[in-house]
Amino acid sequence: MKDRLVIFDTTLRDGEQSPGASMTKEEKIRVARQLEKMRVDVIEAGFAAASPGDFDAIRAIAETIKESTVCSLARANEKDIQRAGEAIQPAARKRIHTFIATSPIHMEKKLRMTPDQVVEQAVKAIGWAKQYTDDVEFSAEDAGRSEIDFLCRIFEAVIKAGATTINVPDTVGYNFPNQFAETLRQLIERVPNADKVVWSVHCHNDLGLAVANSLSAVLAGARQVECTINGLGERAGNASLEEVVMAVRTRPDIFPVETRIETNQIVPASKLVSQITGYPVQPNKAIVGANAFAHESGIHQDGVLKHRETYEIMRAEDVGWTQNKLVLGKHSGRNAFKSRLAELGIVLESEEALNAAFAKFKVLADKKHEIFDEDLHALVSDEAVTPAQEHYKLIYSQVCSETGEVPHSQVTLTVGGQERKADSDGSGPVDATFKAIEKVAASGSELLLYSVNAITTGTDAQGEVTVRLSKGGRVVNGQGADTDIVVASAKAYLNALNKLHSCSGKVNPQGDV
Ligand code: KIV
Ligand code: ZN
Repeated sequence: MKDRLVIFDTTLRDGEQSPGASMTKEEKIRVARQLEKMRVDVIEAGFAAASPGDFDAIRAIAETIKESTVCSLARANEKDIQRAGEAIQPAARKRIHTFIATSPIHMEKKLRMTPDQVVEQAVKAIGWAKQYTDDVEFSAEDAGRSEIDFLCRIFEAVIKAGATTINVPDTVGYNFPNQFAETLRQLIERVPNADKVVWSVHCHNDLGLAVANSLSAVLAGARQVECTINGLGERAGNASLEEVVMAVRTRPDIFPVETRIETNQIVPASKLVSQITGYPVQPNKAIVGANAFAHESGIHQDGVLKHRETYEIMRAEDVGWTQNKLVLGKHSGRNAFKSRLAELGIVLESEEALNAAFAKFKVLADKKHEIFDEDLHALVSDEAVTPAQEHYKLIYSQVCSETGEVPHSQVTLTVGGQERKADSDGSGPVDATFKAIEKVAASGSELLLYSVNAITTGTDAQGEVTVRLSKGGRVVNGQGADTDIVVASAKAYLNALNKLHSCSGKVNPQGDV
């Protein structure tokens, strides 16, 4: 019997800290559902004290998710822990993850606390957290640059106070695999009652070593890895879930552990997170990149055709790569549509939402004939916008684009229910359309990112557009999909404007404990 390696996914917390990767509550719920379907053990759903929006999203996830533990991050202070405790309260399985920095530089320059005060605060934090749940995780922030004797001291104290998981973060991605493994080995050996807790690691990728450091720590005794889909996360990101999980699965000769992850859900999770955050996956990314299983050279192709294992150490289908699967067409009925959505883990909240999505599906099926799973995901992204959130709505657009002529766009929108029209020239059809929309919306926002991706193959594929806008320190992503990429672009722009219009701002918590 192998030990279980606990997979703790922090896409919705550390992943969301990537610049511009913020997600709405509905989007977070969709990601959480996919993580549950993938059988992630712990979902870190957010940082409850960061903003009312974060709190609401964690609470909604706690109400929705049944199989995975739902966790909220909290600084080691009573207010944060109370918010975290309240947010996770409805969850079937709940965890509070509290942290305080332990490196000399963080304690002295950021916290302005002595080591004694830090230990005292950490112990108090565990006591507060225990009022809400028995499952309490403690992280020594910047453990990767902390003194080992001090780590032993603080971990001994928090275990005594009731912490059940001890997390060792390499917060700034400074460690090297053999050194990090040695740190874990020493901690497990020296800390009294080390065998009563789960040892965890949380590695950042500043030197491209997050996965290597995490896996080395597993070999040294860590039994939880904190990671994110596509390696999303603060700065250069976190350890990538798919790489950690597939390394352990592909090399059972090396790792004395196994995960319970449904690996065929990895690619759908990767696509969903990329679509929602607007962070594309590089084509040569391990496991989930478009080329991860593509063989270009003749010698490789020949080898794979003769015997797959000549050049493949994993099977594409085991991580969820499928041929674009034709799922539905224009003759498919409402029940087939509904049951395919259910198979994809997509739940529309009301009959009206289902009817509206089905009507859109019929329009799309007329234009496109073959509807794939990816099209359904894009379609329900549109549907996740409730009428209350749809302050700006596209009614009509027309673009003139001819060789040698300046492109010109006309748009008709509703703004808070009132119809408004505008037109504009632009350097291209998309530019002209955005300028026309901006004449009506006058949002004053700054465009940070515009990207287009074909959702499936073929020239009849829908274009999926991401628009990232920033205004007054807030950054939002808008998505739109359509077989006409100018329409997809207009939808994405309006989706971002609607998010700017409706969300309340997120307070970036400071390091005050
Ligand atoms: O990187 C880090 O140290 C963190 C902690 C809050 C675990 O994200
Ligand atoms: Zn982190």
